[in-house]
Amino acid sequence: MLSEISITQRSTAPQRYAHASDRFNEKLTATEQALRDAAAHYQPLTQASSLGAEDVVISDLIRSLGLNIPAFVLETGALHQETLQLLERVRARAVVPIQVIRPDTDAVLGFVRANGEEAMYRSLSLRKTCCRIRKMEPLRKALQGQKAWVTGLRQEQSEARAQVLLLDTSEVAQGGLVKCNPLADWTWGDVWHYIQLHGLDYNPLHDDFMPSIGCAPCTRAISDGEDFRAGRWWWESENAKECGLHVKESST
Ligand code: ADX
Ligand code: SF4
Repeated sequence: MLSEISITQRSTAPQRYAHASDRFNEKLTATEQALRDAAAHYQPLTQASSLGAEDVVISDLIRSLGLNIPAFVLETGALHQETLQLLERVRARAVVPIQVIRPDTDAVLGFVRANGEEAMYRSLSLRKTCCRIRKMEPLRKALQGQKAWVTGLRQEQSEARAQVLLLDTSEVAQGGLVKCNPLADWTWGDVWHYIQLHGLDYNPLHDDFMPSIGCAPCTRAISDGEDFRAGRWWWESENAKECGLHVKESST
């Protein structure tokens, strides 16, 4: 039993998760078409990349399709070393420069000075303030002047994301952007099948049972049987667990 557990623990994320669903090829075709359509109809547009598994797949598709969709990363100042190292590797290889967007230094310092490094664990309100300073304000800057953005949201990730569409135009009437979610109906197995098939570089934290990776203080590994996002803001109730990046204006 012990050896079985240690073998499982030593396996890599592609070995553990790669498994194409029956309709994988069909989904891939629809994904490529959604990216081509978005690039053709909604310029300028940009890819939001957290450098998670979904985002490395999307970046690879954008590159291989030769689409004009530059990427940005919100470098919150609280990311894991592994994520920062992946960012450096990806930047070194990138043909089109990746925009790295950091929060306002004074706002971060002011917040930490007033509330401490571990403020996010003390109340939902402090956690949301931290997310606002480190993620939401930088996101607003990243999306300024854009017509659309591309994200790695998938329906399978959580109940709140179960209705995610390949191309979501529901915010446009209120002055929002078109959102392209090219992996909307992909399974976790599909994502890793693609990564394995193309030998893509990925965040090694995925090997350590972190399927969903955000800032270091707010991400932990999950155990067998736990939900995909159980390691994000694990001390909060289920319906609080979004940082705001993907909360629609109409639902706030
Ligand atoms: S979050 O709202 O809970 O933080 P999640 O980590 O699931 O989001 O990521 C969903 C998508 O949001 C990613 O595929 C990516 O498109 C975008 N995203 C999340 N974090 C970042 C980041 N730090 N920089 C850029 N995009 C991000
Ligand atoms: Fe702050 Fe955690 Fe939100 Fe990152 S995820 S911005 S560390 S509260």
